[in-house]
Amino acid sequence: MQPKSNIVHLPVYQPGKPIEDVKRELGLTEVIKLASNENPNGCSEKAKAAVIESLSNTHIYPDGASVELTADLAVKLGVQPNQIIFGAGSSEVILMIARAFLAPGDETIMADETFSQYKHNAEVENARIIEVPLKDGRHDLPAMLAKVTSRTKVLWICNPNNPTGTIVSHDELTAFMKSVPTDVLVVLDEAYGEFVYDGTYSNGVDMLKEYRNLVVLRTFSKIYGLASFRIGYGVGHPDVIRFVNQVREPFNTSRAAQAAAKASLADDAFLEACRESNAAGVRYLYEQFDRLGLTYFPAFGNFVMVDAKRPSPEMFDALLRRGIIVRARWTYYPNHIRVSVGTPEENKKFIAALEQVLQEVTV
Ligand SMILES: Cc1ncc(COP(=O)(O)O)c(C=O)c1O
Repeated sequence: MQPKSNIVHLPVYQPGKPIEDVKRELGLTEVIKLASNENPNGCSEKAKAAVIESLSNTHIYPDGASVELTADLAVKLGVQPNQIIFGAGSSEVILMIARAFLAPGDETIMADETFSQYKHNAEVENARIIEVPLKDGRHDLPAMLAKVTSRTKVLWICNPNNPTGTIVSHDELTAFMKSVPTDVLVVLDEAYGEFVYDGTYSNGVDMLKEYRNLVVLRTFSKIYGLASFRIGYGVGHPDVIRFVNQVREPFNTSRAAQAAAKASLADDAFLEACRESNAAGVRYLYEQFDRLGLTYFPAFGNFVMVDAKRPSPEMFDALLRRGIIVRARWTYYPNHIRVSVGTPEENKKFIAALEQVLQEVTV
């Protein structure tokens, strides 16, 4: 058997280590996962009720086009239904965009470091990947623009960026969109957008009126607390969304996920409470890192990238032995760990463990 030559070397995606594995491997009874930027508050009670209601129809295929959910979301976002596409998480929308827009040899531009799935899916399509280093942990939009050629098809911007948590401002993004050729599709990944309070942050959906070559990605996995259901979406010009829809699997989002997402959209109070508790969590982590003399990137999402001033693989292992799972091993940031905001209790336990580990791991 001969697989496509360009996928032979591809790594399998390494998710945040599962709690169950850590308990088993290290014989721990309590493990706290702060590794995948999940919502420690779970999801809306309304979403849970909607899922239970959806269970009476488990034997019937879901609505492949998510018509009801699309209608509600379109009203909420102030766009037309034909501007929205749903995926099994925004990860699947990334996959579909790569599938629809990238052919072998096409060029695609992304930051380094950023969310791994832009590169991964581009590699599957055998596209030519152009990575542009971050500047102070932020997307360097002028440098990315300078890399655009006549072969560039898709350019990815993660805002806030995973793993650094930084943002590009509305003004920076607008200047960029004005300069980028209109035949380059710009994918603006706002997976963590709902957490951002900063006044300079852009609302990508509002920019769609002006730029037909923009697609905004969002997800129900993060602030809505529905990561296990796998549902996210893309919003863009109807022509772009139609092409993405053409490569979509027929029943890519489940009935339960659609029901949960639809109910979540009707629970603004839950969303606001999560925004506030996350902001309080970020403030607490900042205070503690300051006390410990550690620096960090400004965090606009639900995670903080902190410079432990020690090799991150060792920090990761030492924290793991104390039952705390974080993310480490970044190419450009060998001493940084990324920690998701947990519940106040989880955050405290993380800081207590970190304080011990900082003594244990040598600089
Ligand atoms: C920036 C970013 N985009 C997209 C995703 C994908 O999330 P999901 O597929 O769960 O919607 C993630 C997940 O961590 C992410 O960090």
